[in-house]
Amino acid sequence: MAKVAVLPGDGIGPEIVEASLPVIEAAAKAARLKLDFERALVGGAAYDATGHPLPPATLKLCDASDAIYFGSVGGPKYDTIPDPNLRPERGALLPLRKRYTLYANVRPAVVYPGLERRSPVKEEIVRGMNLLVVRELVGGAYFGKKALAAASAYDVISYDRVQIERVLRFAFEVAMARGRHLTLVHKANVLLTSVLWKRVWDRVRARYPKVRVDDCYVDAFTMYLISRPRDYDVVVTENMMGDILTDEAAQVTGSIGLIPSASLGPRRTRHGTFGLFEPSHGSAPDIAGKDLANPLATILSGALMLRYSFGAAKAAERVEGAVRRVLAKGLRTRDLAGPKGRALGTRAMAAAVLKEL
Ligand code: IPM
Ligand code: MG
Repeated sequence: MAKVAVLPGDGIGPEIVEASLPVIEAAAKAARLKLDFERALVGGAAYDATGHPLPPATLKLCDASDAIYFGSVGGPKYDTIPDPNLRPERGALLPLRKRYTLYANVRPAVVYPGLERRSPVKEEIVRGMNLLVVRELVGGAYFGKKALAAASAYDVISYDRVQIERVLRFAFEVAMARGRHLTLVHKANVLLTSVLWKRVWDRVRARYPKVRVDDCYVDAFTMYLISRPRDYDVVVTENMMGDILTDEAAQVTGSIGLIPSASLGPRRTRHGTFGLFEPSHGSAPDIAGKDLANPLATILSGALMLRYSFGAAKAAERVEGAVRRVLAKGLRTRDLAGPKGRALGTRAMAAAVLKEL
């Protein structure tokens, strides 16, 4: 039986994960996929209980699982933990990425029909927007050599050919399965790491003659993402540029509550690839525990888990289709309905998706 480590975390994490699990369970069951979901503590919740945001019991469960289904971590209560390595983001999320070499982070940014007006960008510019960012997740400034002294500090950005090549190949494979258009975002006019990215890019792209390619400086790309987001299909970039661009892309869609993510590594499972699946949004402590949070990004992250870790593409599509139909029917959570529109709570929205499924 395949195993999923369920790490609800902090803030809205527990309620969005608990609401989403029945949907994922139902889709898996219909595909005759037996999944065993086991919960463990992570983030602030784990820190409170054990003194560490990523305790040994959680790591042991993750090691023994085929996928990690993650809610969200962090909150104001934990921002003041004196040792920054014990804060949820740096003490739990980054070590998980590193431990399993989750080098490919996939974040789609889609504007669903009927939700165009949620975007801060003009409707006619975002209508039909459907791009996907592949962000390198275990290199660059996040994991380079660092130091902080009284009057100086540094974070080294370094990449080697192997790190670049594996994520580029992943991005090309994703592009082959989508619109066959891949854009490399970089800063090769200034950064030597970007120069290396471009060299590796030139070699890898020769192996994918069917994929239309282009590349773009990151500063220019931040403008194009707003002025012509529909010109892009798959975008690949290094860690920190990807961090910034995925938030920008999410904002352009106007619905960060709908954006899932998958972080994948080299470890193969029986049916696919080991990965960590989490909504792209944070722990939203201001609305935690109020049944207000949008569970759709978590449900869609579960669909990515079915697809990538369990090879259940049909089941994933069924979940994604159910979400699309629920939205097409006009059902909305508070974030999508606006302050005056009719809105469902977290549980009711997840139940609507389950019914649709
Ligand atoms: C993300 C987040 C994380 C990151 C933080 C919480 C460390 O912003 O997943 O995009 O910077 O990678
Ligand atoms: Mg981020």
